[in-house]
Amino acid sequence: MKVAMAHEVPPGEGRVVEAGGRALALFNVDGRFYAIDNACLHRGGPLGEGDLEGTIVRCPWHAWRWDVTSGANVNNPAVTMPCYPVTVVVTASTPRPTTRR
Ligand code: FES
Repeated sequence: MKVAMAHEVPPGEGRVVEAGGRALALFNVDGRFYAIDNACLHRGGPLGEGDLEGTIVRCPWHAWRWDVTSGANVNNPAVTMPCYPVTVVVTASTPRPTTRR
């Protein structure tokens, strides 16, 4: 199912999106997209609104940090957020970057 247009989530940022009735946090890490549950396992903070540094998102509520590529908590990797596969579909109407000479 389509959850967002790729250009709506710039590199280094995340967004909260809806997929199948659940809120997911969608992140763009240098052009690769990753999705984890939006509700932080600590107290449900919105991870899609957290700051992303590299592959690590910081929960905006109490600053727990999660690796968006694996769902692992940075301080305790045994604790993991559910992760979901993301596929980017390129169509004829997909906006292309403009190049200048
Ligand atoms: S709700 Fe995410 S760190 Fe507390």
